[in-house]
Amino acid sequence: MSSSNRTNIPNSLNEHWMPFTDNKNFKKNPRLITDAKGVYLTNHQGKKMIDASSGLFCNPLGHGRKEITEAVSKQLDKLDYCQPFNQGYGGSFELATRIAKKTPEGINRIFYTICGSTAVETAIKIAIAYHRAKGDSKRFRFVGRERGYHGMNIGATTVGGMINNVKTFASVLMPGVQHMRHTHLPEHKFVKGQPDTGVEMAEDLERIAMNFGGENIAACIIEPIAGSTGTLVPPKGYLKRIREICDKHGILLIFDEVITGWGRTGSAFASQEFEVTPDMITMAKATTNGVIPMGVVAVKEEMYDAVLDSSKNPEGTPELFHGYTYSGIPAAVAAGLAVQDIFDKEDIFNRAKDMSPYFQDGLHSLKDLKEVVSIRGYGMMGGVEMRMKDKPGKSGFQTFKHCYDAGVNFKNTGDTLIIAPQFICEKKHIDEIIEKLRTGISNYSKS
Ligand SMILES: Cc1ncc(COP(=O)(O)O)c(C=O)c1O
Repeated sequence: MSSSNRTNIPNSLNEHWMPFTDNKNFKKNPRLITDAKGVYLTNHQGKKMIDASSGLFCNPLGHGRKEITEAVSKQLDKLDYCQPFNQGYGGSFELATRIAKKTPEGINRIFYTICGSTAVETAIKIAIAYHRAKGDSKRFRFVGRERGYHGMNIGATTVGGMINNVKTFASVLMPGVQHMRHTHLPEHKFVKGQPDTGVEMAEDLERIAMNFGGENIAACIIEPIAGSTGTLVPPKGYLKRIREICDKHGILLIFDEVITGWGRTGSAFASQEFEVTPDMITMAKATTNGVIPMGVVAVKEEMYDAVLDSSKNPEGTPELFHGYTYSGIPAAVAAGLAVQDIFDKEDIFNRAKDMSPYFQDGLHSLKDLKEVVSIRGYGMMGGVEMRMKDKPGKSGFQTFKHCYDAGVNFKNTGDTLIIAPQFICEKKHIDEIIEKLRTGISNYSKS
C-alpha cells in the first residue's frame, strides 16, 4: 500500500496485535477510522460519526486543530529531538511553567513521562524517593482502590483495581499493595453529580492503616472520579476525608487526573473542583490534545526540594535515578504549548463548565430506555450502564456496536458506555450525541 492511502483498508490485518482488543472478532469485522475533524470521525466505509468520548478522553479541543499540528511541524523542522538527561531545551521549561500555573498552589514541579501509565509509575517512585530523602525508608506500601484504573505497567497495574487487568499477571505484581473498596453504592444509580451517601467508604484507608501500620504506607493513589470503570463520582466529603486520613498517618496522596485533568470536571483539575489538594497529580491524554504521547507528574515543591537536598551524589549524577528517553521531547512539548494557548484563548475550562449541566441533563434523559440500569456523571464525563446479559461486557459491547452503526462513537468498559464529549461541542452536538445514543441503545434493546 502506498503512503497516500495508508489510512484506508490495509492489505493484511494479521500482524498488528491490537491493544485491549478482541483481535479475532475485530479482524473479521474491522472498524477503521480514516479521518477526524472537529467533533466528527469518518470510518473506512465513509460513514461520518460524532466522537462522544473525545477519543479516549484525549481530544477535548476537537480533532485536527491547525494550531497544534502547525506548532508540532514547526518544532520538528527546527529541533526534532534532544536528549533529556543532563541536557534540555527551552520549550520543556516553558511548558512546565505553564502547567504549574494551572495546578493547585504548591504543586509546581513538573516531571515529564511518556503516557499515563508511566506518570503513575513515576509518582510511585517519587513517593518512595521522597520518604527515603526524609529518612523514612520503611514506607513501602501503597493503597489503591477497587475499580481504579491507573495504566498498565507493573506498578500501575498493581495499584489499579480492575480484575481482568490483574488476574493474568498476579504472579509479578508489586508487593505490599492494598485496595480500598470502590465508592459506587447501589443507591447511586441515576444520581447526577456527587452522591450524598458513601463518605464512610473513606474509612477503608483508616482501616488499612490500622491493619498494616500507617507508618508503613508510602502513598494512596486514587482517581478523583474513577473514569475507566464508567464514571464513579466520589460521594460528598469522601476526598476530603481521604486527605485527612493521609495527613494523620503521613501518607502521600496521589490524584490520578489522567482523565479528570485539564478541564473534564469544569475546573482545570478535579483537585480544584473538589477543593482537596493532593501531594502529586498525574496527567496525560489532553495535555497534548492526544496528538503526541506525553505524561506528567506534578509534584509538591517541598517534595522536590527534599529529594534534591538529600542527594550527596557527585556532580553530574542525578538526584533521582529515573527518566525516559521520551521525557519532554520537543514535538510533545510543542503540542503541549499549543494546547495551553488554546486553553487560555478559548477559556476552555469555563466552556466545559458551562456546557456540563446541558450534557448531564441530556445523558439523564436516556433513563427511560429499556436495558439502561444506571446513569451517572460529573462535568463533561458520564457513564450509561446497560443491564448485564449472560456475561459482563457483552451487553456493553453489543450496545457500542449498535451506537456505532447509529453514528456515535465512544468506548464501552464492561457494560458501561463511556461518554465524554469534547469541550468545543455546541448544544447541537450534545443533542446529536444524545439522539444517536437513544437510537443505538433502542436498536440494541430490540435486537
Ligand atoms: C486514570 C488513568 N490513569 C492512567 C491511565 C493510563 O494512561 P496511558 O494509557 O496513557 O498509559 C489511564 C488511561 O486511560 C487513566 O484513565
